[in-house]
Amino acid sequence: MKRIFKDCQLVTAEGSVSQDSGYDVQHNMMVAVENGIISAIGKNLPTEGFETVSLENRLLTPGLIDSHTHLIFAGDRAKEVEQRLNGVSYQHILESGGGILSTVQSTRQASEAELLALAIPRAKALIRDGVTTLEIKSGYGLTLKDEIKMLRVAKSLQERLPINIITTLLAAHTLPAEFKHAPEDYIDLICNEIIPEVSELGLADAVDVFCEHVGFSRTQMERVFDAALSHGLAIKGHTEQLSDLGGSECAANMGALSVDHIEYINLKSIEALAANGTIATLLPGAFYFLKESQKPPVNLLRKHCIPMAIATDLNPGTSPFASLTLMMNMASTLFGLTTKETLYGVTNHAAKALGLKQKGQIKVGFDADFSVWDLTAPSQLSYLIGLSPLHSRYLKGELANDA
Ligand code: NIG
Ligand code: FE
Repeated sequence: MKRIFKDCQLVTAEGSVSQDSGYDVQHNMMVAVENGIISAIGKNLPTEGFETVSLENRLLTPGLIDSHTHLIFAGDRAKEVEQRLNGVSYQHILESGGGILSTVQSTRQASEAELLALAIPRAKALIRDGVTTLEIKSGYGLTLKDEIKMLRVAKSLQERLPINIITTLLAAHTLPAEFKHAPEDYIDLICNEIIPEVSELGLADAVDVFCEHVGFSRTQMERVFDAALSHGLAIKGHTEQLSDLGGSECAANMGALSVDHIEYINLKSIEALAANGTIATLLPGAFYFLKESQKPPVNLLRKHCIPMAIATDLNPGTSPFASLTLMMNMASTLFGLTTKETLYGVTNHAAKALGLKQKGQIKVGFDADFSVWDLTAPSQLSYLIGLSPLHSRYLKGELANDA
């Protein structure tokens, strides 16, 4: 396959985001793709032997990457939303057996086919929003069988829809009711049975832990990460979402790809992110939906040159939003990110948060995963919400529009 895209208004999302620089839109560009990989970028590339596709001056960005979702689940949490609107806290609902645990109940009862049918429209909504790579976590099964069921459904989406799927085992999401009085036994189950089996089956790329008073302690997280690393799996954390347990520092020092949420992250943890190349993933949807007031320390993250990713965190409890461009908008309006930072957050930095070395940038040698937009300036991506400006997507240089 040899294809050249011409008449592109190109935004490469290469390199790093420097504060003073504006967007680098390169006009009237050509991008050559050979066997799914970007082989040349320039103004006047030789076209002989290439199929030529004119993008008619549309905006070309790397395909968007949603690097943190909980997209596989059954049931809904509408009742809980009403409770929260009446002032009951997320933590209180979870401690009383609702919240994540109520989704665990519905998800355990659902078959693989049912979960798949529920997941497809969610993934399609993200696809229509320009997403080409999607991370999906387990974490509503909390038994070996049900975690495997969720991960299999997540993987199978890739055969059903034109999208790359990355899967993450989140067995350490919350303590299942049957282990209420034996939390260490549940950690044993995760370390000695769930991680080995999931890794043997090749069902997960990484292991995640919710480190929080309503989740797991730093020591418990360490045990789970040790087991993950010994099975060759990457690690990442839900850390400092509701309080500061120092989980981000611990995760970064163990080599985590990313720490996610991090509204309550402290300076020492930020230094650990800098020292270990860990990405800071911001999840403005959850911040907004839980009506939180403590914002992630964006200026400190900038000062320490920590790349920030932005993701939907799509889930039924804290972030019921199947739009990554809406999250870009919220990252700007709620957290003060520049529109350029938001674009890097869903391309370059999101790829790094998933350990994907060949995605997230339009650069020679990278995968030709593209989103093409009926827009004239990249800042419009996080500005006009709900108008579906996506024109088309390409996966490894092939048109992938059938969603
Ligand atoms: O990322 N914080 C923990 N996990 C999810 C919420 C899951 C749920 O409430 O169902 C999150 O916000
Ligand atoms: Fe999450």
